[in-house]
Amino acid sequence: MKDLPVDHPTPQKKKTLLFNILFVAGCTAILVFLLKAPPESTKKLPQDANHLQFYSMGKKEAEKYCGACHAPDGQAPLPVGHPPKYRCLFCHKKYK
Ligand code: HEC
Ligand code: HEC
Repeated sequence: MKDLPVDHPTPQKKKTLLFNILFVAGCTAILVFLLKAPPESTKKLPQDANHLQFYSMGKKEAEKYCGACHAPDGQAPLPVGHPPKYRCLFCHKKYK
């Protein structure tokens, strides 16, 4: 069996540099995703006739009323697989 040519330092180094750049870029992307995605992807408390009344209340007080419409048999039931649901407004924040 013939030995493979191994003595080509320059292209090998270039490849390593490329992989390092890709690695750092990948890490940065994941970090940005983790820092930014959760707060921005959860829907905020709508600013409509049903929800505007809650903007002037404290969170705990407002949350007593959410279930009236968002219960399983209400007019806007929570989607299947909704995360644990007490303290609605910790996740569904008010618009500023
Ligand atoms: C009077 C009935 C009613 C009450 C009370 C109510 N909701 Fe809703 N909610 C709705 C209806 C109907 C929809 C679907 C249509 C819409 O987006 O307004 C909805 C939609 C939502 C949505 C999804 C918005 C979107 O962008 O799709 C969120 C989040 C929400 N409500 C949170 C809350 C929270 C938190 C409370 C308690 C503070 C609450 N709701 C109280 C009727 C209500
Ligand atoms: C642990 C965080 C968390 C809590 C607490 C929470 N939710 Fe959600 N809710 C979510 C996530 C995540 C979704 C998926 C859709 C999204 O991004 O809004 C969702 C979806 C919804 C939707 C459907 C939005 C649509 O797609 O139309 C409604 C309505 C809703 N939640 C209402 C409530 C109500 C009312 C409460 C309190 C009883 C509550 N949520 C508590 C995280 C939460």
